[in-house]
Amino acid sequence: MANNKTVLIKIKRQANPQSKSYWEEFALSWKPGMNVISSLMDIAANPVTRDGKPTAPITYDSNCLEEVCGSCAMLINGKARMACSALIDKLEQPIRLGPLSKFPVVRDLSVDRSVLFENLKSVKAWVPIDGSYDLGSGPRLTPEDQEAAYPLSRCISCCCCMEACPQFNESTGFVGAATISQVRLFNTHPTGKALKRERLAALMGDGGIQECGYAQNCVEVCPKDIPLTRSIAEVGGEVMKQAIGELFRR
Ligand code: SF4
Ligand code: SF4
Ligand code: FES
Repeated sequence: MANNKTVLIKIKRQANPQSKSYWEEFALSWKPGMNVISSLMDIAANPVTRDGKPTAPITYDSNCLEEVCGSCAMLINGKARMACSALIDKLEQPIRLGPLSKFPVVRDLSVDRSVLFENLKSVKAWVPIDGSYDLGSGPRLTPEDQEAAYPLSRCISCCCCMEACPQFNESTGFVGAATISQVRLFNTHPTGKALKRERLAALMGDGGIQECGYAQNCVEVCPKDIPLTRSIAEVGGEVMKQAIGELFRR
């Protein structure tokens, strides 16, 4: 059955990291089940603005299309969220799409989120098992430990928590909630905890956990419902304990 419903989308565009941004508006034919990524695909198939001007297709990141890869985070009507799970029928129109504002724009809606990966490296967010010796099997994880770790392991590195955090900015250099939560995950792993002391040390001082103002915006936007404020409280307590211990050892 033909339909003549229209979807209006305004998109903030930027040709390269140095150029000025500008807005373009698109009018798409409504289809059942449309989401933001499928709308961007429709624009790519027919890159013409609402007033009939041919334009370049929109650049954006996406991969899994099922909220697993974390690549499609953007500002949708001003809120940081995943474009592949943002249903058009649930959004107020005209829908405004923009790149995450706290990360350098690569082009249009695609941003450089490498700061998160650098932050994860700085806290050694991994289980240290590399080496040339046969280490044998690791300690067993109890079902209780697995259950506690699972919610933390669901992080998709989307950076929505950092975008929403008032403390994540150049002046604080704050690592952000995702990194802190990964510290909690790896510090509770029976093999991963070998690096616990180093991870906690990396969160002390400027840009560390003390920068968190506990505004809780992070936990509200996390698409994977990760208990971020609980992670911040627990890791904060551990950092404090270690800092006091070091003071007395001097
Ligand atoms: S609790 Fe607030 S300040 Fe701390 S990481 Fe979350 S949003 Fe940022
Ligand atoms: S903690 Fe949540 S919001 Fe932050 S990067 Fe991971 S999945 Fe995204
Ligand atoms: S495309 Fe992978 S999370 Fe959206």
